[in-house]
Amino acid sequence: MTKVLVATVKPFAPAAVNNIRKICDDAGYEFKLLEKYGDQSDLIKAVEDVDAIIIRSDKVTKEVIDAGKNLKIVVRAGAGYDNVDLEAASARNIVVMNTPGQNSNAVAELALGMMVYLARNQFNGTAGTELRGKKLGIHAFGNVGKLVGDIAKGFGMELFAFDPFIPNEEIEKHGVKALDSEEELYSTCQYISLHIPANDKTKKSINFELLSKMPKGATLVNTARKEVIDEDGLLKMFSERDDFNYISDVAPDCKEKIESDFEGRFFFTPKKMGAQTSEANINASIAAARQIVNFIENGDTTFKVN
Ligand code: 3PG
Repeated sequence: MTKVLVATVKPFAPAAVNNIRKICDDAGYEFKLLEKYGDQSDLIKAVEDVDAIIIRSDKVTKEVIDAGKNLKIVVRAGAGYDNVDLEAASARNIVVMNTPGQNSNAVAELALGMMVYLARNQFNGTAGTELRGKKLGIHAFGNVGKLVGDIAKGFGMELFAFDPFIPNEEIEKHGVKALDSEEELYSTCQYISLHIPANDKTKKSINFELLSKMPKGATLVNTARKEVIDEDGLLKMFSERDDFNYISDVAPDCKEKIESDFEGRFFFTPKKMGAQTSEANINASIAAARQIVNFIENGDTTFKVN
């Protein structure tokens, strides 16, 4: 019997788990659940006898892959798959997929929500600023970037984007001005919202040189990954530009220094929560479970990333 493991340190909403369970029952598969596990060894043990796993930001290392003797497919219920060792999976012919777009709206809403929160001085009762009329630079125009643009339009922001993988005409169909380089985006926009993946090319790519091009009143919004930020550059930007603010769904490693020296100019969520809505959990988990059934039953490899 095909066995499907849901392994989530950060659990899905209960309705999402029930949906996966039902899809597995209907397909005649066995369903296993490992939530809030304390140690990587728990995942390594749980994966031993399963054919498929559904994960979130859980780390699927070579050790996990090698422990999964029957493993055929790993589905990351979400967008970013920087937490999966793709090379180790490919070496064993294990298919890795993500579920693009399924949790994007939740992330986009959080990006705008955090922008309002900081612009209004964290709702402390003092006079803040408005988003209307401000220039927003969307750095990468994928599923989340597009939705950030749609929502920001409602706030009356002026929209710009840079994405080397999407033709300018495609970006401009969404009422967003496409720019030709990162440098142009950063020097044009007071707000920058990051939607780039974390990979060898992008890690530490958001550095002082780029940030320092931002106009006065600069605010960087990061609902992507902390690894894309060059933290030495981030700290330099905080000290050299007292108009600079940083909002992030992923607290940086240098969080304590920022908290002690730059009060009122940052906001960090206590844990990554961009995709933490029941809607996003339900969408991503149903997609993940269906992708597994389609792969096992029909060999469908749509959304394969390795
Ligand atoms: C993603 O890549 O889909 C988001 O960062 C959400 O990650 P999470 O499932 O760990 O909340």
